[in-house]
Amino acid sequence: MEYFKITGQNRLEGPVDISGAKNAAVAVMPAAIAANGICVIENLPCIEDVTSLIDAISKIGAKCRFRDCHTLEIDATKINDYRATYNSVKKIRASYYLLGALLGRFKKAEVALPGGCNFGTRPIDLHIKGFEALGAKVHIEQGMVKAYADELIGANIYLDQVSVGSTINIMLAAIFAKGRTNIENAAKEPHVVDTANFLNMLGAKIKGAGTDVIRITGVEELHGGEYMIIPDQIEAGTYMIAAAATGGDITIRNIIPKHLDSISAKLLEMNCKIVEGCDSVRVIGNSRPSGVTLKTLAYPGFPTDLQPQMAALLSVSQGTSIITETVWENRFQYINELKRLGCNITVEGRVAVVEGVEQLTGAEVCATDLRAGAALVIAGLIANGTTIIGNTKYIDRGYENMEKKLRALGAKIERINQPD
Ligand code: UD1
Repeated sequence: MEYFKITGQNRLEGPVDISGAKNAAVAVMPAAIAANGICVIENLPCIEDVTSLIDAISKIGAKCRFRDCHTLEIDATKINDYRATYNSVKKIRASYYLLGALLGRFKKAEVALPGGCNFGTRPIDLHIKGFEALGAKVHIEQGMVKAYADELIGANIYLDQVSVGSTINIMLAAIFAKGRTNIENAAKEPHVVDTANFLNMLGAKIKGAGTDVIRITGVEELHGGEYMIIPDQIEAGTYMIAAAATGGDITIRNIIPKHLDSISAKLLEMNCKIVEGCDSVRVIGNSRPSGVTLKTLAYPGFPTDLQPQMAALLSVSQGTSIITETVWENRFQYINELKRLGCNITVEGRVAVVEGVEQLTGAEVCATDLRAGAALVIAGLIANGTTIIGNTKYIDRGYENMEKKLRALGAKIERINQPD
């Protein structure tokens, strides 16, 4: 059993370097199997989701080789299977991208329904509708999504809801569809743009990524190439919030400040100081930030993946804060764990009301998912005394060396490995 032991109430100070974006990496890696050539992916974060995906794509015949710990070579020229079973995909939500990539390149794909964090029903109906609009026959049988097509033909696809996963997945299939595909009401997240840039570098013809309408002209084949993944918006945001929560002074480096606008704006509203550089942002916290109203939204709105971390910060802010979660129906499961540290939060459906308290007290808690784990770490950093956080495996899915990065900033955090 592994857990984090945190002794709280240390002000975090200094620089921290942000790793490559998890959500871009888990899209770009499956996208690489659409290429009939060797892809070299740089700035890959060293996290469990990446390891799980390497396993999954190796099992279908892609050859993966690390040039160094952040640079991966993927040779997909000899893919010999179009099936990814439950065992190879159960840990990762983003395994659904294998569907689009295999369907696009080979016109057939069988991938087990995705796993990953559980904070709602997490349907994939929009992905399926998109593939069907391109001419594929899709059905679900014994937990496998099976998609086949004689040929894919470009279409106009309107997404009922802004969805990152379906935007990228439809894009992956449509790059090989005959003619033109338009994805309307597309997601605009930085990792959607990053995946489109990667695919264009391989020879795809995608325009408009980062806007509401993505226009794709089909091509016959993709070649290999080298690509550097963007920095992780959510990891950066987590350290920004940690700076504010500990009244600290952290310079978050190797980032794209534009991707962090919604977070900077919220922290400014809470009376933190923000100093933006070309590829860095410095966050200077104050003794007790003001409470705010927060609503999660698709990009460029405030990201749902930073909602739990903000809840931890708002728990010790002045006054009452209101958090409305508009993306996931059930993303407040972690609140019960935060309450063990003394947070005063009530949840009614998709709304959480946070009454700021003066102090949190360390306790034993358990991460319920990846970002919930990050929220508990932030709460532990604020709390008086010792906090023990179990289920670190969730945190390792998406944060590279979190405890080492925090220790370098002055946190007292250790990973403890105890035999069961
Ligand atoms: C991605 C991120 C995840 C983040 C989420 C929202 C990855 C690997 N994961 O997840 O960390 O929390 O975006 O920013 O990038 N929906 C449907 N039908 C579908 C697909 C989605 O109704 O077919 C709904 C979902 O239930 C949800 C909303 O659309 O309410 C957004 O989901 P989506 O953007 O697709 O999330 P993911 O891509 O799974």
